[in-house]
Amino acid sequence: MKTNLTAKKTANQKLIAWVDEIAALCQPDSVYWCDGSEEEKDALNKQLVASGTFIPLNPEKRPGCFLARSNPADVARMEHRTFICSEREIDAGPTNNWADPTEMRKKLNGLFKGCMKGRTMYVVPFSMGPVGSHIAHIGIEITDSPYVVVNMRITTRIGQNVLDVLGSNGAFVPCIHSVGVPLQEGEQDVPWPCRPDDVHVVHFPETREIWSFGSGYGGNALLGKKCFALRIATVMARDEGWLAEHMLIVGVENPEGEKTYIAAAFPSACGKTNLAMLIPPEAFDGWKIHTVGDDIAWIKPGEDGRFYAINAEAGFFGVAPGTSVHTNPNAMATCRANTIFTNVALTDDGDVWWEGMTKEAPAHLIDWQGNDWTPNSGKPAAHPNARFTAPAGQCPSIDPDWENPKGVPISAFVFGGRLSKNAPLVYESFDWNHGVYMGATVGSEKTAAADGQADIRYDPMAMLPFCGYNMGDYFDHWLKMGRAIPKAPRIFRVNWFRKDDQGHFIWPGFGDNLRALKWIIDRVRGRVSAVESPIGWLPYYEDIFWNGLDFTREAFSGLSDINKKAALHEADGQKEFLSRFEKIGKLPEELQHEQRMLVLRLQRCGDTWKLPRK
Ligand code: OXD
Ligand code: MN
Repeated sequence: MKTNLTAKKTANQKLIAWVDEIAALCQPDSVYWCDGSEEEKDALNKQLVASGTFIPLNPEKRPGCFLARSNPADVARMEHRTFICSEREIDAGPTNNWADPTEMRKKLNGLFKGCMKGRTMYVVPFSMGPVGSHIAHIGIEITDSPYVVVNMRITTRIGQNVLDVLGSNGAFVPCIHSVGVPLQEGEQDVPWPCRPDDVHVVHFPETREIWSFGSGYGGNALLGKKCFALRIATVMARDEGWLAEHMLIVGVENPEGEKTYIAAAFPSACGKTNLAMLIPPEAFDGWKIHTVGDDIAWIKPGEDGRFYAINAEAGFFGVAPGTSVHTNPNAMATCRANTIFTNVALTDDGDVWWEGMTKEAPAHLIDWQGNDWTPNSGKPAAHPNARFTAPAGQCPSIDPDWENPKGVPISAFVFGGRLSKNAPLVYESFDWNHGVYMGATVGSEKTAAADGQADIRYDPMAMLPFCGYNMGDYFDHWLKMGRAIPKAPRIFRVNWFRKDDQGHFIWPGFGDNLRALKWIIDRVRGRVSAVESPIGWLPYYEDIFWNGLDFTREAFSGLSDINKKAALHEADGQKEFLSRFEKIGKLPEELQHEQRMLVLRLQRCGDTWKLPRK
């Protein structure tokens, strides 16, 4: 079989033997080891254009950018086809799809046998985190999709320097991916080969392996992201004493030059990328926001007793619809060049468009499926999960320290969901264990509530689809980390989505969210007091920075007051959710205690807990 492996590339015998083994199974025409160079990128892009996968965009408007249209059946992560194959079912826990590892290996062997016939098998050495950082880890993705290679090139750091750091004995996470469509001799390839009915995204936590078959899209195929950086990394973090989290990392600098880093977890569609790239309101003269990451944080204890975090990724795989110069100008600037757009609409002058990008849609577009589209078409022009893959270094607000191998020191963890009633704008936990309870009970409403709080879909730490082991054990790991870290970050909850009785959002959100972050920083730095409520420490109206925003005390009360009946109802919902872990003996005592204390505190308060004056 043809290969470009030379002695210079790697002397890692384990890696060479594994690549040989996978090549023997998948039977590609040739094996190509990626070096991450510009020439390699150009050649792959050219090839993707020739095969019809990529449409080059107008070089004046979007230099170095391409549009890809996926198969309409391959447009998102497929959670029901995602498996955790731990030896014991209990170790996958009640929130993951478990499958027997021996059975699964048999099945995968059948699926992967000869699956790369007629194709090139790419070997992609990648580093999650700055190459050589002690917080980073190395993976090797084998894939038969050049689209995956060029996306991995943006979202991770790939190439020869990774092999150099790996050396002859270094450890790596093996990640095997195939679109699952062998090519017969002389057969023309389709622009987006996939096998949606046979998708398997499989994790073996004990051996730290990932096998993905049948999908070419996002988190199913770019295996460094959710598969490695979260599902496998959570297992590594549990075993090695660190945290792998679905968190953005942002640095906030005040006019005096004091910089504070916050790591924050929100379920999908709660504005994580927007918060990571926030633009301070005008009244915040001299304040700066520094983006470190928008999706995945790896956090390890530092020698000074604090947590240090890196962005495990090197690029953004952002949701395009809803992104505009008003909602997130930094994201718009980031994806102006050298970006891969997937499933957005194409304008007549070779640019991209998606719902929410401009107030008015262009009169004519080619939609994400390649069809003519007008504003009267009655369907979206871009797929709701359309994405841009853009280099993080192009973000105007990127932190000068975003590639610091030491990471950045984290002062606060923030959890948030999307709740229209009863959840205050911002509050602080009483202590670490209470903060873990607050994180474990993060959730978003299933539907918009017309009256009262709608049922909540719980998504602990925004990790429900991403924790590679039993979530009860994951809670326990968080509790342990709190005991192990002398200078643990303080823990907060936020909610930007509370509505008034007429159904209008009370809080303006976006840049004004900095007002909540400022309070968090003032708390962390011991500059403000807070008021004790049944659910945690709340800000006094007087302690929020209001310059430039007309927000009355009454309106703030509307964001802060706690209705006892509704809060007790939510506490019941939390108990029911957590009982899934309790039933199998996996709910830590500490969280059971926090649950009881919350109910007690609520039972002992009046019908409505009201924010007092300072
Ligand atoms: C993502 C997600 O794609 O969280 O980042 O769903
Ligand atoms: Mn995410």
